[in-house]
Amino acid sequence: MNVDRIRTKFGDAYRADERTFTMGIDRRFTTHFAERFRGLYVLETCTGAGFTTISLAKTARQVCTIEIDPSHQEQAISNAAKAGCSSRVSFIQGDILNQNLLDRLPPVDAAFLDPDWNVTGPDHVYCFLHSNTMPPADILLNKIFQITNSIALVLPPFINTREFVHLPQHERQKCFLGDSHELYCLYFGDLIASPGETEFHVPE
Ligand SMILES: C[S@@+](CC[C@H](N)C(=O)[O-])C[C@H]1O[C@@H](n2cnc3c(N)ncnc32)[C@H](O)[C@@H]1O
Repeated sequence: MNVDRIRTKFGDAYRADERTFTMGIDRRFTTHFAERFRGLYVLETCTGAGFTTISLAKTARQVCTIEIDPSHQEQAISNAAKAGCSSRVSFIQGDILNQNLLDRLPPVDAAFLDPDWNVTGPDHVYCFLHSNTMPPADILLNKIFQITNSIALVLPPFINTREFVHLPQHERQKCFLGDSHELYCLYFGDLIASPGETEFHVPE
């Protein structure tokens, strides 16, 4: 991977491969999301190469992060060490939908969910309900509501927002890089700053 591209997107010469680079969220968004988790015990899923984990660890009290793919987790552990925040992160390898794993998690105040929506290729039809993200976003959200009501869920910009109408009260934030709508972040529970649709803009 080109180190300059990694540094520009994530802030340092972290470890990433093509896949974890593409999946990783730009630091200008992750630092923004992390502000809402200040001082909290946080569950994160899914870790990827740890770019949201690092931002969360800089504001949260403690982060427990789950990743199914050992090679992604290995990158994340090394990246958290490089960022100097390993002591505030516990890494768990496993499937977040596994009920035994969920039952063994420590209590948390809030959760950050970033399922993988790139898994089905360029022809993928993006949807929230009956989602084929990995893990499925709708199933994941319901599972995590067993643990906490305060959740942030990252979703792609192409989703029809009518799919969200049956969800509990939330803030739906449209996140822009320049003029480009890059993603949605849905906030629930105590993470809501202002219910309804809001926008967050990063200058290009
Ligand atoms: C979009 S990436 C996360 C990127 C990360 N937020 C970042 O900024 O670097 C999604 C991750 O979810 C992992 N994943 C997929 N299914 C999972 C599951 N059932 N349990 C835990 N992790 C899973 C994938 O291996 C992938 O690393």
